[in-house]
Amino acid sequence: MTSDKNEPVLPRGSIIGIFGGGQLGRMLSLAAARLGYKTHIYCPDENCPASQFAWKHTIADYDDNAALTAFAKKVDVVTYEFENIPTDSVITTAALTPVFPPIEALYTAQDRLNEKTFISEKAGVPVAPFQPVENEFDAKRAFKVLGGKCVIKTRRMGYDGKGQVIASSETEALEGKKSLGKVSCIAEAFIPFNREVSVICARGTSGETKSYPLIENIHQHHILHKSVCPAPSDNGKARELALQILTALDYVGVLAVEFFELEDGSYLVNEIAPRVHNSGHWTQDAGCVDQFELHIRAITGWPLGNLQPRHAIEMTNLLGEDINQFEALGEDPDLRVHFYGKSEAKPGRKMGHINRILS
Ligand SMILES: Nc1ncnc2c1ncn2[C@@H]1O[C@H](COP(=O)(O)OP(=O)(O)O)[C@@H](O)[C@H]1O
Ligand SMILES: [Mg+2]
Repeated sequence: MTSDKNEPVLPRGSIIGIFGGGQLGRMLSLAAARLGYKTHIYCPDENCPASQFAWKHTIADYDDNAALTAFAKKVDVVTYEFENIPTDSVITTAALTPVFPPIEALYTAQDRLNEKTFISEKAGVPVAPFQPVENEFDAKRAFKVLGGKCVIKTRRMGYDGKGQVIASSETEALEGKKSLGKVSCIAEAFIPFNREVSVICARGTSGETKSYPLIENIHQHHILHKSVCPAPSDNGKARELALQILTALDYVGVLAVEFFELEDGSYLVNEIAPRVHNSGHWTQDAGCVDQFELHIRAITGWPLGNLQPRHAIEMTNLLGEDINQFEALGEDPDLRVHFYGKSEAKPGRKMGHINRILS
């Protein structure tokens, strides 16, 4: 596939390969099936949530070259539902079949230092002041340079607040780095934000771009708790900045951009996700094209469709044992429950979500 405007839509019945078998892969598979496509999941976990809905499942490690090549030969386009797949594995498949979003986006989002450097220097979008941190000495120095309270994060593999510590003194910065282990880190100035918001946007193979209205996100213990759309107020700036990033990455697919909103109404990008995103799950019940269908449309050459929700709506995550507390929901027509088919409700694990129509 190329970015040619006149290019035909990927024919119905084609096979979409997806790296990763979590809940995002599961919901992408459902959306793909609705549009007449089959999905083929690549995930080492035999019982992953996505395998319950996918047409095929390759159970193999992400560095298994033979399995990667066989997978790439069987599918018509490849995408991914999480950003921690080794880029080399994606490059292996890209030699045989198109990969969307582009590998550059994956490479950028995998590493917080690359990500912040790209967003600020290449896309020209502001981020929190940051410093690379390789060792404990660097951590102390970064604390001083950043001028006070900071957050030290591992450059790679962090999610749901894992792999990060807050430091309010040089000693805490040093100890914090020690606790994260011998891995490359980044220190960011601690931002006393007004609120956290996100923008979910997409670019199609034709270059068409669109975004949903601004989303307001409430976190608990560094994990997303609730998302509300539309956010109670919106000056339009965050959506502009998100589209700037989409263009700078020459992107195809759904992109999520997380922002800190400051007192004066300006924005700093916290991080980007080159995929569908937890803060966009409300789209499933808002009466517009949902983010999973949007991603499938974008990578298969469809027009992106209507992203205007018919209702104000909020999404609440069901973490761990929350999954067992939904009995009352059966009676309320404005509530929809989405479970991920995970067998073990470990504390903090994302087990499902509830969407509630507000108006
Ligand atoms: N520099 C910062 N200043 C203030 N709060 C932060 C900062 N970085 C992260 N946080 C808080 O921690 C949450 C998780 O951090 P984030 O960088 O988004 O990592 P993750 O990959 O775990 O989502 C953010 O949503 C925010 O609430
Ligand atoms: Mg985050």
